[in-house]
Amino acid sequence: MATKLAALILLAAFIAGPAACEGASICFNGWLRLPSYNPRLCRSRPDIQRRQRIPSPSGSGLSYGYYNSRCPSAEKLVTAAVRKAVAANPGIGAGLIRLFFHDCFVRGCDASVLLTATDSNNMDTEREGPPNKDSLRGFEVIDEAKAAIEAACPGTVSCADVVAFAARDASYFLSNRRINIPTQGGRYDGRESFANETDQLPGPFSNVTELQASFAAKGLTSDEMVVLSGAHTIGRARCMFSSSRLSEMDPAFAAKLRAQCNGDDNTNVNQDDVTPDVLDRQYYQNVIDRKVLFTSDAVLNSTETIAQVTENANRAGAWERKFERAMENMGKIGIKTRGDQQGAEIRKVCSRVNN
Ligand code: HEM
Ligand SMILES: *[C@@H]1O[C@H](CO)[C@@H](O)[C@H](O)[C@H]1NC(C)=O
Ligand SMILES: *[C@@H]1O[C@H](CO)[C@@H](O)[C@H](O)[C@H]1NC(C)=O
Ligand SMILES: *[C@@H]1O[C@H](CO)[C@@H](O)[C@H](O)[C@H]1NC(C)=O
Repeated sequence: MATKLAALILLAAFIAGPAACEGASICFNGWLRLPSYNPRLCRSRPDIQRRQRIPSPSGSGLSYGYYNSRCPSAEKLVTAAVRKAVAANPGIGAGLIRLFFHDCFVRGCDASVLLTATDSNNMDTEREGPPNKDSLRGFEVIDEAKAAIEAACPGTVSCADVVAFAARDASYFLSNRRINIPTQGGRYDGRESFANETDQLPGPFSNVTELQASFAAKGLTSDEMVVLSGAHTIGRARCMFSSSRLSEMDPAFAAKLRAQCNGDDNTNVNQDDVTPDVLDRQYYQNVIDRKVLFTSDAVLNSTETIAQVTENANRAGAWERKFERAMENMGKIGIKTRGDQQGAEIRKVCSRVNN
């Protein structure tokens, strides 16, 4: 029965010709795979596609131990909340690391990703954008840490810094204390957040040129793109992002995914089948072994990036140090500082702007 069905599908594909297989439009910077072109969602973004490299973020205005005098318990309170959450569910740690990435790539590391409402009425915030909706997790850990900090030192510690410290702590615990990202403080919180701007995040259907362009648009190098992609050694992803490329994967891995997904786009599967909850260099071996989920993972085998993949896979400890540096650099993107012209503030509640 199964062979008959497979033969039928093959036949249908043959009759329809290649167009039926290759007809899908990749839209919203690689996030959406649509059956046909949609001008609203598929319009090209010249600022991303032009691949102009903006200068590396300087991080001017940030410093280590920023809260030592202002609020000595701040970093410890974040660490306590993250330790508890990761012990209960390592997936929340993965969520916190991703939250930091999604914050920094859209309007800079300014906690715009946390807003459910802004001062402008009824507008969809970043949380409603395709990369984030029904996907980001860890918000309750940020809220718990922030509430504890507000009780200790009201109006002093930004939500943007809480997100940065939480990503550092999640990386530390999930790596079995092998990764310790030097993390400065001093970011201020923004007052704007727009769902449509989340197309600045590269998507799972992006090719290597598009990945490089999206990172270059934030002042990050192709090497940093490869290094940061290693975060896909933890956490989970919905089947909708991998089901179209099962035939390109290691057959046993593909068969396992097919069984787990069972035709449901919204089922979640582990990103790293080997060490699913450990932040380690296994991801790079998975790229080589064709045991990664997304097009954006698999394309790191391209001629421009394969040398780095191989080095990260083979040299113990090398990737961990590069990941620390790249995460620190990511934490400097587009930061707002005190007295920022665009009206930055220290938010009281991370999900909404101050009145
Ligand atoms: C290079 C381009 C990247 C693409 C195209 C990409 C895409 C994705 C996608 C599609 C998912 C699954 C979302 C879902 O199914 O709801 C995911 C999950 C994840 N990503 Fe990325 N990502 C990229 C880079 C990064 C970076 C730079 C980091 C962090 C440094 C990161 C950390 C994660 C983590 C930890 C998860 C799992 C989250 C969880 O389990 O809650 N990703 N990513
Ligand atoms: C994004 O949405 C906002 C609010 O709806 C709008 O003002 C802005 O022009 C949009 N930006 C782009 C690039 O479409
Ligand atoms: C990547 O996709 C773009 C379209 O967005 C295309 O112009 C380019 O040729 C592709 N690059 C590679 C290396 O496949
Ligand atoms: C990279 O992997 C893809 C899919 O797994 C494959 O089609 C392609 O030939 C590989 N390219 C290189 C340069 O190894």
